[in-house]
Amino acid sequence: MLELIRRDGLARICRLHTRRGELETPCLLPVVNPRLITVRPRELYDIFGFQALITNSYIIRNDPLTREAALRDGLHQLLDFPGVVMTDSGTFQSHMYGEVEVQNREIVEFQRDIGSDIGTVLDIFTEPEWGRERTAESIEVTLARTVEAEGLKGDMMLAGVVQGSVYPDLREDCARRLADMKVDVHPVGGVVPLMEHYRFADLVEVIVASKKGLRPDRPVHLFGAGHPMLFALAVLLGCDMFDSASYAKFARDDRFMFLEGTFRLQDMKALECQCPACAGHDLEEIRGMTHSRRTELIARHNLWVSKMELERVKRAILEGDLWELVERRCRSHPALLDALRSLGKHQEFLERFEPLSREHALFYTGPETLNRPAFLRYQRRSRERYQHPSTEVGITFEEPEKPYSRTLRGAMGSILEISDAHFHVISPFGPVPIELDEIYPISQSLFPKLVDQQTRERIDRLMEDLAHNHGYRMGAIWEGEGTLEILRMLSKGRGCFDIDMARVGAVADYQFGKGAAEALLEGNVTLVKSKNVDRIRNVLVDGEHVASLRAEDGFFTLHPAGARRLLGGLAAPRSRVVVDDDSVEFNRKGRNVFCSFVLDADPELRPQDEVMVVDGNDVLVAIGRAQLTREEMLCFRKGVAVKVREGA
Ligand code: GUN
Ligand code: ZN
Repeated sequence: MLELIRRDGLARICRLHTRRGELETPCLLPVVNPRLITVRPRELYDIFGFQALITNSYIIRNDPLTREAALRDGLHQLLDFPGVVMTDSGTFQSHMYGEVEVQNREIVEFQRDIGSDIGTVLDIFTEPEWGRERTAESIEVTLARTVEAEGLKGDMMLAGVVQGSVYPDLREDCARRLADMKVDVHPVGGVVPLMEHYRFADLVEVIVASKKGLRPDRPVHLFGAGHPMLFALAVLLGCDMFDSASYAKFARDDRFMFLEGTFRLQDMKALECQCPACAGHDLEEIRGMTHSRRTELIARHNLWVSKMELERVKRAILEGDLWELVERRCRSHPALLDALRSLGKHQEFLERFEPLSREHALFYTGPETLNRPAFLRYQRRSRERYQHPSTEVGITFEEPEKPYSRTLRGAMGSILEISDAHFHVISPFGPVPIELDEIYPISQSLFPKLVDQQTRERIDRLMEDLAHNHGYRMGAIWEGEGTLEILRMLSKGRGCFDIDMARVGAVADYQFGKGAAEALLEGNVTLVKSKNVDRIRNVLVDGEHVASLRAEDGFFTLHPAGARRLLGGLAAPRSRVVVDDDSVEFNRKGRNVFCSFVLDADPELRPQDEVMVVDGNDVLVAIGRAQLTREEMLCFRKGVAVKVREGA
């Protein structure tokens, strides 16, 4: 059973509950060949801290002595490994090196009988160059074998492999059908040739298609992915597990893995690595070692680099800068840059998991950043959920220092003295109504001062758009004194645009959808501002505290009075999570909502959204922040669905 602990988009830190204890993901399972041990499993566990490894049941079964020992003592004793042991079925070996001599039934039973914690179906490896028909037929065989394995697995967890070559629709369909089976882990298979040939953009298509069909409460394992240069990207797309035989295979050919790629010992001019394996050694010394000592050293290096990168990726999930990390990593090889660029095709899908905001500011690292789902989110919401006030004049500013409203205060004041105006800033996200200038990611983003061509073109296009479709009687681009002069001549007189009042309304609609501002703010509105920074803190309506505006991301935190207003004004299921009666009393006391008690939720919820927890009669129970999307809440059986802030 999988429990989601923290997430950023599709990327997640989870706990996989197994009979051997908990396995934290994302994780790497080193491949151990029991007949050719490079680094002992004990060391992998004790020194490196790998909680799981993967070995090949096919190799064990084909060697009479090992087979005997495995059946007699069990796999964990055979390998001397106390952690989780996953086994593969031999698909890859038989595919690469010759005929299958084993049947699905036999190899699944064998894995079960030697005490594998996670056993794998004997799937058919679908090669990238295969035609559709052959691929589709093979998928049918793999699925039939998975059905057979369901009945044989006993209490072993079962890995059901997604195949489908490079056909996204076949992948997705295969994944969807596997999602309906009693399977515990989903490897994405058939991808080794894509990785070997640096076809990373194709790999993105394969992973995305598989993720679309799979269910969120099962871990996704990228089969045969062991190069650390790929981890950040694969985790961003929702992969939880990796396995690596490469650490040892590469080491045997004197190849070092780095985040920038793989380098041959003979070509390297320096070794600046400070991993525990390399520390204290120089290249000359390593070159002078015996082949087996050298292999061990390089294998350990490869494992440390992989391990450290996964730790780095986890940290990025916790701190909210995984996109930045991925964009940096994907600049280490042009083929990875292709993969990064191809993410742009999947904005729509990725946006469904995009959090409301992040702790880390959005850093622009290059034109690919413009394809992040945060941009799509802003464009869509500002178009669909925002309506500018019907002033006579609309003034557009080029992007000033942030926060815009502070920098432009003087200019806006002068304009309002002579005309009934409203204001926009042109940012790389799109036109920003001045009252939305503090929401994530508008205020919480950093762009270089020297604007590149793609961003420039984008900004010009957006300016053009706004110039033609602004909806004011008169639109102008701010050019200082000259603009004031024109306004003095043409406009009808002073304005009364109140940015604070506009802000609370615009943020409410942007955050909760159209109609939210009306529901939340109907009545006599008072704004409480912090003295020293002149920022809105609390919103009171008819004397009741309905919401607070967060300084970090510019969005609202609801209070019970505000939540009741929203419940009245927004039709179900909007902004709601409906919980089972058994949960109601707990949540009223301020305890979190667990997935197993969620009956339904707003399909438009995004992670970190402010939500109202209600009972079956739509009565308010608590307020908190959603951790998951609706589908995830309904799928997961363990873990927190809503972090409750306050019971009602
Ligand atoms: N190892 C690497 N790729 C695969 C695959 O597609 N299936 C199985 N079973 N093992 C693999
Ligand atoms: Zn090293």
